[in-house]
Formats: sequence, structure tokens, C-alpha cells
Amino acid sequence: MKTKLLAFALTLMIFAAPFSRADEGMWIPLLIEKYNIKLMQEKGFKLSAEDIYSVNKACMKDAVLSFGGGCTGEVISPDGLLITNHHCGYGQIQKHSSLEHDYLTDGFWAMSREEELSNPGLTVTFLKSMADVTDKVMEGVTKEMTAEERDKKINSNMAEIRKKAAEGNNYSAFVRPFYMGNQYFLFVNESFRDVRLVGAPPSSIGKFGGDTDNWIWPRHTGDFSLFRIYAGKDNKPADYSKDNIPYKPLYHFPISLKGVKEGDFTMVFGYPGSTSEYVPSYHVDMVKNYLNPKMIEIRTKKIDIIDAAMNSDKLIRIQYSAKKAGLSNSWKKWIGENQGLERMKTIDKKREFESKLTEWINADKERIDKYGKILPRYAELYSKLNELNPVSSYTSEVFSGGVEAIGFSRNIKSLADLYNATPDAEKIKTAKANLLASADGFFKNYDAGTDKKLFIALMTMYGENLAPEWQAPEYLKIKSSCKGDFSKIADKLYDKSVFTDQVRFKAFIGSFNKSSVSKLNKDLFYLLILDVNKFLDANVRPELGRVSSEIQKLNRDFMTVQMEYDKARVFYPDANSTLRVSYGSIKGYESRDGVYFKPYTTVKGIMEKDNPAIYDYDVPEKLKTLYRTRDFGPYTQDGEVPVCFIANNHTTGGNSGSPVINADGHLIGVNFDRAWEGVASDIAFNPSQSRNISLDIRYALFIIDKFAGAGYLLNEMTIVK
Ligand code: ARG
Ligand code: GLU
Repeated sequence: MKTKLLAFALTLMIFAAPFSRADEGMWIPLLIEKYNIKLMQEKGFKLSAEDIYSVNKACMKDAVLSFGGGCTGEVISPDGLLITNHHCGYGQIQKHSSLEHDYLTDGFWAMSREEELSNPGLTVTFLKSMADVTDKVMEGVTKEMTAEERDKKINSNMAEIRKKAAEGNNYSAFVRPFYMGNQYFLFVNESFRDVRLVGAPPSSIGKFGGDTDNWIWPRHTGDFSLFRIYAGKDNKPADYSKDNIPYKPLYHFPISLKGVKEGDFTMVFGYPGSTSEYVPSYHVDMVKNYLNPKMIEIRTKKIDIIDAAMNSDKLIRIQYSAKKAGLSNSWKKWIGENQGLERMKTIDKKREFESKLTEWINADKERIDKYGKILPRYAELYSKLNELNPVSSYTSEVFSGGVEAIGFSRNIKSLADLYNATPDAEKIKTAKANLLASADGFFKNYDAGTDKKLFIALMTMYGENLAPEWQAPEYLKIKSSCKGDFSKIADKLYDKSVFTDQVRFKAFIGSFNKSSVSKLNKDLFYLLILDVNKFLDANVRPELGRVSSEIQKLNRDFMTVQMEYDKARVFYPDANSTLRVSYGSIKGYESRDGVYFKPYTTVKGIMEKDNPAIYDYDVPEKLKTLYRTRDFGPYTQDGEVPVCFIANNHTTGGNSGSPVINADGHLIGVNFDRAWEGVASDIAFNPSQSRNISLDIRYALFIIDKFAGAGYLLNEMTIVK
């Protein structure tokens, strides 16, 4: 029996093709040929792995870009025109907006190249090539080394590889660990710095449904914006100059008008940020039961306050819309994530897996030596992390990233520090200039009245929700002096502090001298931020750092043992902000008992949601007219204009703006979100409910052409009928 089993196992190992089997996964472009292409083709994909990623010929990867670091975008014309999400271009659109030119509310359309708006600081990055450099990274690393020696060797090897890769070219290079540090890849990139805003629909289209519909299917958001990449005369990256010319990409995506139906092959090609698919049950327990609940609670409060302020005043709406979108985006995701983890019983399942794994480890002496300590050690480390992690996150939620006057006050420390030693006039001058410049950005989007409300609420919550031993001394002092009633001190504070008013701030910096330092040291906001950081540095961060880095090391072995335990499975690496391919098909889902969601929506649904009394559902008149007169152009399916669709592609934050590609390699949509029921896919993918949400490219074309009257932009695109 035993020999038979062994023979069977061997046959499996020899004949089982190393191909991935499920739609789950974010795959490495370089390895598509090896692991994925067969299944992709079975699912309908008509092209080859080389059409996706190649260093020998122009291919899709040459049209996919990392947009501004946190999003993805894709090139859709030979003249460097790119499309990404409205929420990815939001910061830029907002920067160009004021009460006079409110592009957030009214949209923006350059009617000629001259009217395109430059965006200092915005870059887009293309991948030129990638390579597995594991062997080189591990060169000289021995079993006998201590963890520190090992890290040191690896880091110096990586630096060497990076340096070599970027030598004699204009590219940048970096090496990233994959599979928790079991494998390393080198990435060589090219970044462009002159990227101009070409078009954006009004928020009533680009953000239709707002935070109410965010993370929710069925969806009707026209979440796109258009930019153009400019290059120097040599087609190479250049700083902004009016003499720059539109970048000529190696490849741009043809756009398909053919449409989508349930079951069609789809592929998403972009930059997923981070996932934790292979963590132990202890980690999921920490996220679900310790971290998320605390963070959800405090964000609920912040959002309530900001929402009320935004609804009361037009300027505050402009000032706080991006901030609020950021706050509420994670807040809502955490809620969905916890519900999903509960529904999937992820913690229980991981525990079951871990006990089976433990049995397997214990069945072999060598395995016990290598892996026997991992899980018990996780248990110890997470019991510490469960306490420290929420303290650290909650504290930043209150101070550095909560009350804005407190967070902002910290910037001045670099100037104050210059007065301690022998003052260097030149350095002081630069520090002052930097502060004045940062103040413009800060106060443009600052409302002291709203911040005061945040101050009162957050100071109170910090005192109530963290155990007293985790509260900073300066905070405790202030709390006792106002007897726990922060509203008593708030008015005076906000009327006097230099951090709550631009004029006071500028005057203060303008005349800043040695005696200003003592005045600064009496500012309550400044005192708080310094003390809180001192407190964290002394009591939280060192231990948190030690525990986290030990966990990271365990993760590497835990990954190895999982791969060894399940040899037949092809593992995809966790997302790490590198370019990945996800594939699957257009697919609806059952959201809850008795409710099945179809995989696409149309403009008809926008009209159904229309409600001028609700900001998020206030449909622009022009769109209503187009609908009433059925002025749809060629952008229809079954007589309606499609808006969004869902598929079971595995995506996460960072995939926003990613091209969604059909079996022919043509662009059919732009990824922008996931459906709420399945957002726990960052930790555990749920095949029956994890869905990515994409804008149907035909809606974007319809808006550009019929709504905005910027149809000239379509002339440069390659549109496939
Ligand atoms: N949930 C999407 C993402 O994670 C969209 C966020 C922007 N939209 C919004 N309504 N806040 O980025
Ligand atoms: N909206 C997300 C982003 O900005 C994508 C949604 C997700 O997390 O999958 O990347």
C-alpha cells in the first residue's frame, strides 16, 4: 500500500503540469508563459504570453504604467494619451480647482493640446524589464549567518544588482522580495515627469454615487480621467517644458466597442499594492478583532464631523472632499473585510490548516527541526502585536493624521532645531522658505472650525479608548487641566495658535528667531506632537519593530513550509506594488440569500438613482437630456449605454486605473473598485463573491464624445468596432 501511494505521488509530481488552476491570483508577468498561459487560453485568451510581457518586442506591458505611485494607468494613443481613474487623478484635478474654476464640480476638458494642464510632481513609470535575481541576492549567504549578517549581505547584494542595472542608462532599478523573501526580482523602470491633465468628467459622473456607493455593486460611477505624457525631443523623460512633445509609446491599447457578456475572458494588468494571503490565523485574528474595530470606530467619528461640515459649506466641500474620500475609503473597506472574514470563517479555516500542518511537521524529525517552532512563536509574538499595533495606529489616527493643526505643527521642528546649535543663516532661510511653501498647500484645504471639532472629539476618544499606560504624559496633563472637557480649551487654542491660521503662521515664520523657539515650546499642538512621538519612541516603536521584524523572518519560513506541504499547488506571490496579471471572466454573484447581481449596469440605472436632493446622486442635466433623447452614438449594448461591469479578477488597492483586457488583447474597461462582499480577498479570496469592478470603456467614450464634446480625442485612439 505504502509503495503504491508513493508511486502515485511520484506520478503526480511528474505529470501534474505546474499550471495554476483557479481565477484567484496576481501573477508575475515574466512567468505567465510558465504557469498561466495555458489556462488563460483555455478560458478564451487568444494571444500569447509574449504579447503580455516581452523584452524583445513591443507588448502590453509597454502600455501599462504606474500612475503617481498609488494607481495604475494605460496608454491609449500613439500620442501618449493615458486613461486612469477619476479618483486617481483627483488630487491633480483638485489642485487646479478653486471656487472660480471648480473642475471637481464642473469637469475639465482641454479642447486643444495647449489647454492641457501641467502637474508638477506627478510621474508615470513604465516597466522596461524584470528578472529573477534570487541567486545573485543570495550569493554569499550561508546557513551559519546570524539574522543580522544575513540581512546585511542580502542588502549589499541587492544594492550591487540595482547599481549595475541602472548603469549607463536613464532607468531606475530596484529589487523586491517575493514569497516573503524566498525569491527576489529585479525591476528596471523608466519614469516620465511631464504629465498633463487632458480631461476629467464632473464629480457627478466621475464620482457618481460618491462614498455612498464606494465599494458597492451595482455601480454607476464614470471613474476615469485622461492625462498625456510628454517627453523631450528625443522621446526620453524630461522636466516640464512647453517645448516637450507628446510621448511616443512603444505600444498603446486598442479600444474595443464590441462589449462584454457574462463568461467572457478578462484580464487585469496593473500594480496591486499589498495583500496577505499566506499569513497565519494569528494575523487574521489581529486584523479582525483588534485593529479593524478600533480603526473603524475612530474613523466613523471623523467622517461624521467632516461630512457635516462639507454639507454646510461649498468651500469646505472642496477643501475636504479628497481627505474625506481617503478616510472613508479604508473605513468602509475594513467594515466589509471584517464581514467577509466572518462569512468565510477565515480564522477557523486557517486554524484547521495549521493543525494539519503541525501534524505533518511533527511526522518528520527534520521538519520538526526546521519548522516546528514557527507556529508556537507566532502565538507569542502576536499576543504582543495585538496590543502594540492598535496603540500605534490609533495614536497616529489621533495626532499625526487626525487633528490637522497637531499634525501640521510638527513640520516646524526642523526649523526650531536649527536654533539649538550655532545657527546657520543659509539653512534657516531654506527651512523658512520650505515651511511657507508647505503652508500654502496646507491652509488651502484647511478649515479651523472643522479642525476644532475634530480636536475635541479625537482628544476625548484617545483618552477613552487607549489604556492609560498607552497615553502620552503631555496629553494626560492637558486632560487633567481641563478636567477631560476639551471643548473648554478649544476656542482659545484655535483663536491663538499659529497653526490654525495662515496669516498668523506666515507672520510667525517670517519673523522667526531664537526667542520664537520658546514661544513655540508653549504651543499646545506642538507640545503634544513632540511628546506623543517621544512617548511612542520610548515605549512602543522599539518593541513593535522587534516583534514585526521577527514575524517577518518567521513569515519566510512559514511560506516555505506551506509550499513544501502543498507541492502540487502553484503559489502566486502576495501583491507588493509590482506589475501583475490577474485573469478570470465576467461574472455576477449572489450577494446574499435570494439576491443575484448581474455583471453589468447601464445609464438607465443612473436615471433610477437620480435624486437632486442627495449630493452623491445628483445627475447632471446634460446627461439626463442625452438619456431622454437617446443620443447614445455607437456606445450601446442592447440599446442602453453600459456603465460598469464586474469580473472575478483578483485585484487590490493600486489596481485602480488598471486596463481590463478582453480575449483579443483590447481594452474593454478600466478597473476601479471591488464589490463589498468580497473585499476580504486581500486576506482570503472568495471565488463566489470576490469581484473587481470596472468602468466599461464605452461609457468613457460616450462621456468624452457626447457629454463633454471632446470627441476630437477619440481621433487619436485605435477603436475596434
Ligand atoms: N474604493 C476604491 C479604491 O479603493 C475607490 C476609492 C475612491 N472613491 C471614493 N468614493 N472614495 O480606491
Ligand atoms: N479603488 C482601489 C484603488 O485605488 C481599487 C479597489 C481595490 O482595492 O481593489 O486601487
